[in-house]
Formats: sequence, C-alpha cells, structure tokens
Amino acid sequence: MPNSERFLNKLGIAPSLHPPQDWEVIPMMPLRGMLIFPHMITHLDVGRDRSINAINEAMENDKNLLFLAMQKDPQIDEPGLDDIYDVGSVVLIRQLLKLPGGTVRLLVEGLYRARLMSCLQDDPFLLAEIEPLNSYRGEDPIEEEATKRILLAKFDDYAKNSKRVASETMASIVNISDPDVLSDLIGGQLNLQQEERQELLETLDITERMANIIGLIDKENEILEMEKNIANRVRQQMDKSQREYYLREQIKAIQIELGEGDERSAEVERYRKKAEEAKLPDYVMERFEAELKRLEKTPPMMAEAMVITTYLEVILDLPWNKASEENLDILRAEKILDEDHYGLARAKERIIEYLASCCLKNNLKGPIICLVGPPGVGKTSLARSIARATGREFVRMSLGGVHDEAEIRGHRRTYIGSMPGRILNGIKTAGVNNPLFLLDEVDKLGKDWRGDPTSALLEALDPEQNNTFSDHYLEIPFDLSKVMFITTANMRSEIPRPLLDRMEVIEISSYTEEEKLNIAIRHLVKKQLLEHGLTADQVKFTNAALRAIIRSHTREAGVRELERRIAKVCRKAGRDIVAGLQPPFKINVDNLADYLGKPRYIESKLKHQPQLGIAIGLAWTEIGGEILEIEVQTLPGKGKFTITGKLGDVMKESVQAGYTWLRTIGRRYGIPDNLEETTDLHIHVPEGAIPKDGPSAGITIATALCSQLSGIKVRGDIAMTGEITLHGKVLPVGGIKEKLLAAYRFGIKEIILPAENAKDLEDIPPSIREKMVFHTARHMDEVLELALVKDKPQATAK
Ligand SMILES: Nc1ncnc2c1ncn2[C@@H]1O[C@H](COP(=O)(O)OP(=O)(O)OP(=O)(O)O)[C@@H](O)[C@H]1O
Ligand SMILES: [Mg+2]
Repeated sequence: MPNSERFLNKLGIAPSLHPPQDWEVIPMMPLRGMLIFPHMITHLDVGRDRSINAINEAMENDKNLLFLAMQKDPQIDEPGLDDIYDVGSVVLIRQLLKLPGGTVRLLVEGLYRARLMSCLQDDPFLLAEIEPLNSYRGEDPIEEEATKRILLAKFDDYAKNSKRVASETMASIVNISDPDVLSDLIGGQLNLQQEERQELLETLDITERMANIIGLIDKENEILEMEKNIANRVRQQMDKSQREYYLREQIKAIQIELGEGDERSAEVERYRKKAEEAKLPDYVMERFEAELKRLEKTPPMMAEAMVITTYLEVILDLPWNKASEENLDILRAEKILDEDHYGLARAKERIIEYLASCCLKNNLKGPIICLVGPPGVGKTSLARSIARATGREFVRMSLGGVHDEAEIRGHRRTYIGSMPGRILNGIKTAGVNNPLFLLDEVDKLGKDWRGDPTSALLEALDPEQNNTFSDHYLEIPFDLSKVMFITTANMRSEIPRPLLDRMEVIEISSYTEEEKLNIAIRHLVKKQLLEHGLTADQVKFTNAALRAIIRSHTREAGVRELERRIAKVCRKAGRDIVAGLQPPFKINVDNLADYLGKPRYIESKLKHQPQLGIAIGLAWTEIGGEILEIEVQTLPGKGKFTITGKLGDVMKESVQAGYTWLRTIGRRYGIPDNLEETTDLHIHVPEGAIPKDGPSAGITIATALCSQLSGIKVRGDIAMTGEITLHGKVLPVGGIKEKLLAAYRFGIKEIILPAENAKDLEDIPPSIREKMVFHTARHMDEVLELALVKDKPQATAK
C-alpha cells in the first residue's frame, strides 16, 4: 500500500505534471502483483538483478526515471515481454536506500501512464521504448461532475466501513478537484485485484475510469458489509459461549459454597469407576460416557439429572457380559425333570430332545418351546425345572393383559419416569444374560389401539435378530441370543399366529385321577407339609383321603386346586398343634370333612339306565372333560323349535344339522313326516347357566332327538362325541383324552367316537384303556345302532 502521508505532500504538483509528447527510451522494471498509479508515492523493495541494474542505469543517466509495468504472473522470475502488461507507468525515483543483503528500497512517485512499444535490450537490464499516454476528459462535463460526486460519496462510505483510509488522507482527497488525479488516488487506496488495477491504469477516459471505480467500490462495500455480518455472528457466538462458561463457573462456585460441587464430581467419578469395573462393551461405554458428560453439566436439582442417573443405573445393572455357567449334562437334566414332576413322560421326552439339540448345535437357534395345556398341569413349574436342569437363572414374565408394545420394549426416555420394557427388566432381575426366560400365558396377550405387543415379542424371540434387541428406553442394542425362551399357553388357538409359527408346541393334557393321586403323594403333600413347617410324621394322608379330595373337593384338569386343599388341611393341622392337640394326625375319608368342610362337588349320579330322549355326550372345557346330558322333549304344537342351555352358534347349527338329517331317514325309526303340524320340540343341555359351544355334541343331539321322536330309549351306560353332517357322517373332534377321562370318572365304560379319532386312544393311560370299550363310527347309522336300545319301541311318537 502506498504511504498516504508521503504522497499527500505531493498532491499539489501532481495535476500540473503532463507527460511528454514523444516516445522515450527508459530503463524498465517489471513489478510483481502491484503497480504504481500516477500521482502516487510509494516504497518498493527491489531484489532482482536486472531490476537493480535498471535502477542503477536510471540513477546514472540523471533522469531518475523508470518505466514500471506489472507482470501477468507474479511467480515468473525473469519475465519476457509477453509476460508483462504493456501499459504501465513512468515513475520518478525520489530516494534510494541499499538494504543489507543486496536489496534496494526505493521511494518512487508515479508520473504518467505509458505504453511499452518495444524492448531494446533485456540484458543487463530491460530497456524499453515507450509511448506516453494521456488521460482525456469526456465530452459531457455534467456527467463528469455527477460521476465525481458519486465517487466521492461512495469512497466516503468505503473509508468509513473499511477503516483502511486515514482520516487526513480522506480530508485531502475530498479537496481535490481534478478528476484525473482524484480517480488515480482513489484507485490507489482500494484493495483491488491485479486485473482490476491494470484495467484502471489502462482506462484513459477519466469519466469512464471514475465509473469503473464506483463499481469496484460498490463491490468492495458489499464485501465489507458481509465481512461485518460474519464478524458479528462470530462475536455473538463467542459472547454466548463466554456467557455460558461464566454462568457455569458461577454454578460451580455456588455448588461448592453449598457443598454440592464435590458431590457431583464424586458422583460422576463413582459412575465412571463402576463402568470400568463392569467392563461394559465399547459401544455401551461410548454411550455411557456421553451421558456422564451430560450429567456433569446438569445441575443436581434439575429433574433431568435424575433422568440421567436412572439411565446410568440401568446400564450398569444390565448383565452385558455376565453369564451363568450352563450345565449341558443331558442325563443330569433328565434326572432333575423326573425329580420335580411326576408323569408328563411325553413332555419331558420332547424337552430333553430339545435340550440335546441345543447342546449339539451349541446355540439356541431354533423353534421356541411352547408348553400348552389346561391350568394347573405344571407348565410354569416345568419351565422352572428346566432352568434348574440346565443351570440357568429363571425369570418369569406374565403376558396376561399386556396390551402395549411399550410394556415389552419400554418407553422412550422423553417420558418422565420411563423405564426399560419388561424383557430387559427381566434380564436385569436375572443378573445374567443367559437366563431361562419364561413368557407365561402368551395366549392372553392383548392387542388394541395402544399397539401390538406381538411384534416386539417377535423381535425378542427371533434368533435371527434378537442379538440386537432394541429397547426404546435403552436405545443401545442388547444381545438376547443366549437367553432360552420358553412360552406357555392354555389354548393353542389363542396364540397369535406369527408367534405360534416360531414355536414348537408341546401339549400337556389333563391328569387322570390316578396321576393326580400320584402327584399328591409324591410331591404336593411333601411340598405343603414343608411350607407349613410340618413333618411327615405329624400329618399323614391316607390314599383314600387324597382320592376323596380329588373327587369331591376339586374339579380341574390340573392339580392346583388339589394342592390348595392339601394346604388347607395342613393349615388346620398346624393350628391344631399350636392349640395343643397332640400329633400325629391321620387324615382319612371319615375325618376329611373336619378339615375341608362338606364336599364341594357331588357327582351327579348317572342312572346308567336306558332313558327316552336323553343321550350322554362328552364335552371338553378348559378345566378338563365333562359329561353332558342332552335332553329332548316333544309337545303338541306346530313345529316350533326351542333350544335352551346357553348354546353357542356352532352348537345350535349342530342341532339343526342333526334334525335335518333325522327328517331324511326318520321313517326307518317310525318318525312321522308331518311333525310340523303336530309337534313342538324343546332341546335342553344342562347345566343351563354354563355357556357351551362347538360341534362335538352333534351326534349326541341327533341321538337324543331320534330317541324322543321314535320312542326308542337311549342306553344309559354309553357316552358319545362327534360332529355330524347333513348326510349323517361323523366327523372327528378334539379333546378325546379329557373327554374319556370324564366318562371314566362317571363310571361310563362304553364310548362311541369318530373313526378318525381312534389314534387319540394312545394317549389314554393303559390302566384306564383296558377297562373301557371303544366303538368307532363313520356314520350316524352306526351311532344309532350302538346307542339305541334294541327292544321294541315302548311308545310311539305323537
Ligand atoms: N406332574 C407334576 N408333578 C409335580 N407337581 C406338579 C405336576 N403338575 C403340576 N404340579 C404342581 O401344580 C402346581 C401348579 O402348576 P403350574 O403353576 O405350573 O401350572 P400351570 O400349568 O402353569 O397353570 P396355568 O396355566 O394356570 O399357569 C405347581 O405347584 C406344580 O408344582
Ligand atoms: Mg402357569
């Protein structure tokens, strides 16, 4: 930049200086990245040999003049003519100073513009032949004046904005009236690009030059404005972070005053140490650190601090890499399963197979066991036993009534008080990452507008993706692949389909009386005595008493109620001992009522005699098999049909189907054709208050109808089950084992069942099977043949 003070002294003479008219020969010096406008005084440092030679020449020839022109590329050391702009300026050397190291400092004054015409020599210095150039004024003085004023105003703005122009310089410039000098001086003050400077130098029309400068100043002003904005923004940010820093320091100071500051850093340190001890995996540690940093910044009284610490605790509590040692000894497992549970041979066998295959593959990839059966048959306790057998921790989670995906998978941390879902909670409780996780009652899962928990469960159960199970609260994936999941359900049909697809169902059916008795003797009595602090010597149950409890005090598929009754006896015995009565107490059939009160269930005594219009059916309910006596009555009337006993739609349709079939073959049994005109029918199934449904009473209803309408009695010692079609075919039904056990309990030894159900007889314990007679039937004709009494009709239908 030119030294403004110096050239200001010169201002007075500059306008009077006119370039000579003729060509001249002057030593020449190329400039790198700068040029000298006429009227400008400035310093130059010169180092290149040719340039120093040129200066020496100028000084020696007494003229002290140099032609200066700018290099096109400042990088070139020895430029040729092509590398130099051909318009430059002639300057007067006013001072020369030799600096150490051979460089020379010049003070030069720009005199006039000139064009390089030719170069007469280029060694030892460049010698140029130049043509002086005259600036010229435009034809319109008003335009010139207006442009000048605008230029001055703009420059004023620029000077204020840029703070690059000293105020004295500004004051002098304002006083210059010659537009030629003015434009050159202003051009010299601006911070311009090389090409822009060169263009100003080459513009000889003064008005045009001023207009150019106005454009350049505008651009410059814009840049300055932008620079100012950016600087402002930076300053604001600085201010903000400084403010925060200051406030934080204040908080720290306050905390220290309150004695809290140390606590906070001690707390953070404690967490850090715990995390190191817990050997969290890297990806968990990263997150943990980030949260710790947040905690450090949060004042302790803020709710947010609580949220963060709870989160940190959860991370620390989870067993990221803690596992219990598994026991893979199959023989030992088998022994433990047998120890804990009586019977259940098939279920145990399947479980052992499953364990063996896991053991062979050395992973748990494969279907998940689902234990399905009526209540109280030992599903939950069997799962517990598997945990014991495999040396895994046991966690149980009941899915009954879980509606919400968030219950399984947690709430996002945006909710105050949010926690991880039940799966991770279970793992946390287990304290190891390879527990046996029992998902109890998958068939009771809810599903509504709150979301479908099935999808979250699927993710947890699917061996392909559960190694990165994501919990909404935790947000870091957790590996569930080492967890052994087992599920239970009462009804297979109620298990959500996608879940069922991934499961291997192991059915556990109801117990027979014999099995219940054995379970009571081997397990339940012992367990309850222990629980009530009694010994086997103090309280003894006779087998007959246990059998009586099973028969008259419970009615169930499993043994839960039975266990409760035994517990009740133990409680009473315990009380008696405390009251001073002397053990041992022997519980037998005679004194059972003292402990349990009157029998709850009195078996409705079946007559076992042939009856008119009554057939014995077999039903399956959740608590086991039942006997159903289906009754039909006829009344004089006009073909009205009444059905009572809380029958569901399917069962009502069975009634219709049976009746239709009967009308088609009625003649064979002497049933008149004109029933619609003479007879009303009433069908009833006791016990009337209990809802019943399903197609399996089809053949029983048809048999009862046929008997009542034909007047032929039905045998009272035979029970039946099966669905009927319009053409009288007998279709297979479910729950055969439970149904047959119920029949056996009621003393019925002869059974009619669909031919296709014959295979189910294998499930019946041989001890019972041998005492019963089974008839299979494909068609209603066979059923009637078996069920109706062979004697002559005793009465004719009305
Ligand atoms: N075969 C058996 N041997 C010994 N105890 C048994 C057997 N079956 C069931 N029990 C006992 O009966 C009780 C009830 O069993 P559990 O709670 O496992 O039934 P559940 O099948 O899970 O029933 P729910 O479907 O209602 O959950 C338990 O105390 C269990 O130990
Ligand atoms: Mg259970």
